[in-house]
Amino acid sequence: MEGKRILVTGGSGLVGKAIEKVVADGEGRPDEQWIFISSKDADLTNAADTKCLFEKHKPTHVIHLAAMVGGLFRNMKYNLDFLRNNLHINDNVLHSAYEMGVQKVVSCLSTCIFPDKTTYPIDETMIHNGPPHTSNFGYSYAKRMIDVQNRAYYEQHGCKFTSVIPTNVFGPHDNFNIDDGHVLPGLIHKVYSAKQNGTALSIWGTGQPRRQFIYSLDLARLFIWVLREYNEVDPIILSVGEEDEVSIKEAAESIVAAMEFKGELIFDSTKSDGQFKKTASNHKLRKYLPDFQFTPFNKVFSVTCLEWFGSWAWHSTLSPCAPISPTIPWDLLWWRSSLCRGREPSPTPGSLQLTKSQLDGERY
Ligand SMILES: NC(=O)c1ccc[n+]([C@@H]2O[C@H](COP(=O)([O-])OP(=O)(O)OC[C@H]3O[C@@H](n4cnc5c(N)ncnc54)[C@H](OP(=O)(O)O)[C@@H]3O)[C@@H](O)[C@H]2O)c1
Repeated sequence: MEGKRILVTGGSGLVGKAIEKVVADGEGRPDEQWIFISSKDADLTNAADTKCLFEKHKPTHVIHLAAMVGGLFRNMKYNLDFLRNNLHINDNVLHSAYEMGVQKVVSCLSTCIFPDKTTYPIDETMIHNGPPHTSNFGYSYAKRMIDVQNRAYYEQHGCKFTSVIPTNVFGPHDNFNIDDGHVLPGLIHKVYSAKQNGTALSIWGTGQPRRQFIYSLDLARLFIWVLREYNEVDPIILSVGEEDEVSIKEAAESIVAAMEFKGELIFDSTKSDGQFKKTASNHKLRKYLPDFQFTPFNKVFSVTCLEWFGSWAWHSTLSPCAPISPTIPWDLLWWRSSLCRGREPSPTPGSLQLTKSQLDGERY
């Protein structure tokens, strides 16, 4: 039997890199060829480019991660762009997959696309039950349309196109930008800066909002399971349990402990808390995989810090064995970390030019 050619769109991002690592570390099978692509390989908003990409690689399976992703303020400002770009990307990928006879597509939704007014915990049946939060309606409706398209491709053509719904993802190759990055790497950056400058750690908001965080490598293993074993068209939430939801304060305390920060913690309640919670149920996942082990939050955290700093050290002009000094300027670290992501670094450490997917927010 001919092997599988698995195309991963968004292969240079946080989730794509995690899948690449898990595959390289032994989850890949001899009959599988994995192809990880980024926007450098094709602009998926462009139908002709997308078709060429599919014709070139002739995938039998697709994990579709590529998206215009951003934070609260960028979403609010560019709802139309989020809507149009993501509608185009998703339509181009799904239709090319259909035209090329791809056997299965697993696309990625997010818990942020659920109705703003809802009951908790949210589950897979509730996606279309009401309008999303006004701040990110463009991104949300585009993501919701993937589920609509999956059903339509199945009903009209029998395609096995499905989707997964992760909660907040974190791990190596995350976006560590304070203003634009995810909450956990943003906190790591802040702790690092506070240590470097000998200042207090200022945390935006009251610290009370609660979140479920999934480690990117756990998510990667679940993606691979979905690709191989999950046969429903309906989406599935990939999340730790409701009992594993933590407050931002608890998350910050974990980072502080992992990075041995001894200074003061200040909660800046003049800054918005955002949505208080978006608790998701992993009941459906647990019915399929009752024994799946999520990596414990605290353990993950020190690994994340270490992996990231380790990556930096590896690419640094310093010896990889050299201790990481708190006096190394942050922008040099950031520059090194962009190298580690395999992305174009800025020409000089002092003038940062981030790729579009690094650009902003506690991302949806
Ligand atoms: N991160 C989270 O917390 C989270 C939570 C729930 C759901 N999700 C979903 O998970 C998926 C992956 O997220 P992520 O955090 O890994 O994102 P990410 O780190 O921002 O990566 C985005 C990826 O999409 C690619 N991309 C963007 N625009 C493209 C275009 N026009 N053509 C081709 N490729 C394009 C980027 O390529 P370049 O590197 O070349 O720019 C990059 O590989 C997304 O669908 C996102 O909505 C993420």
